[in-house]
Amino acid sequence: MDFCLSPKHAARQNEFREFADREIQPAGHTFPRENLRKMAGRGYMGLPIPREWGGQGEDFLTYILLIEEISRVCASTGVILAVHTSVGTFPLLYYGSREQKERYLAGLARGELLGAFALSEAGAGSDAAALRTSARRVEEGYRLNGAKVFITSGSEADLYTVFATLDQSLGSRGICAFLVEKDTPGLTIAPPEKKMGLHGSATTELQFADLIVGPDRLLGEEGKGFAIAMSLLDGGRIGIAAQALGLARASLEATTAHLNSRLAQGDQVSQWGRFTLADLHTRLEAARLLTYRAALLKEKGQPCSREAAMAKCFAADLAVEAATRCIDLWRPEEYAGEHPLYRYFCDAKVTQIYEGTNQIQRLVISRAILKTFHK
Ligand code: CAA
Repeated sequence: MDFCLSPKHAARQNEFREFADREIQPAGHTFPRENLRKMAGRGYMGLPIPREWGGQGEDFLTYILLIEEISRVCASTGVILAVHTSVGTFPLLYYGSREQKERYLAGLARGELLGAFALSEAGAGSDAAALRTSARRVEEGYRLNGAKVFITSGSEADLYTVFATLDQSLGSRGICAFLVEKDTPGLTIAPPEKKMGLHGSATTELQFADLIVGPDRLLGEEGKGFAIAMSLLDGGRIGIAAQALGLARASLEATTAHLNSRLAQGDQVSQWGRFTLADLHTRLEAARLLTYRAALLKEKGQPCSREAAMAKCFAADLAVEAATRCIDLWRPEEYAGEHPLYRYFCDAKVTQIYEGTNQIQRLVISRAILKTFHK
């Protein structure tokens, strides 16, 4: 057993850290196109996609290290990258026909196209199989009607993987995945939502009104859409765990540097403060081990639903905990003004919510422990 990063992974981690520190700007309230452009220039928008399809052919762990480093500086850019890759580009790689791959995959991997994932609905968030967006077979292919909510990069993406049901009475087995281009007639994109955090990431509702897609835009087989969504989310959740790791580190690094500068000025750090730091750093290492292990399992093609859920749940809880407990290590008078931990807390909170709430992660973990899918 080797719990250390290989020299190659450690070198890439350093490269990503330097890149993020030098090139990535916190997004503020603006969609971070410039950050994405710089990442595309380095091949980072398609890091784990094979070279033959325009990517860099790196392994999944390397991609996870990238998300962590980017998110440490800008968690909005981190989630845009994670969604674009894990659930925006992998659908094509894993389930796309040759023709679909040729049409979209290299563009996504090079960052010329941005991908998005449209699963959640107003009445079907945690219970994703209850989705109501309908797909009717018509002469030209399929006609989609319905609406999706909280779609990351909804207003900015070029290609959406959209989940719709042929027959709601079939439950999860009626669901299909479709590739929908942004300019398809019948697609309306609502203005971005106002959110508590991740202000640079555009989260929007998508409405489908008699939107026609050809049969060549069906991804995988009819009725397999739910399993496709779930398998993609296994990888996606490892990406969100990495985003949460980046955020937890941001809180801890800002606070540790602050306490060190206090010490350098001859000031004291209480024993309670030191213990808080020790606890959080220990939990950070545990979160990293969970996340990197899930990434290694995924890379090997082994089942990783349980491990991905554990990593996402633990790392997301830690990101929130780190921001909230670290604030207690600053002085009351330092609470004034725009505190760095404020952004980290607001950004961290959603990692407990999206790509399956942490309650859903606990459901996935407990089902795996009990080895049953019974509800
Ligand atoms: N891989 C492959 N197939 C899977 C699977 C997986 N990980 N998990 C389940 N399936 C298959 C099952 O084998 C089953 O197949 P059969 O019908 O052939 O037996 C089928 O899917 C149904 O499985 P379940 O009975 O387990 O399904 P369920 O209705 O009980 O739901 C759930 C399970 C875990 C609660 C699921 O609904 C879920 O994950 N909900 C959360 C949804 C979610 O994560 N949404 C995120 C939105 S995207 C997002 O947030 C992106 C962003 O913006 C950041």
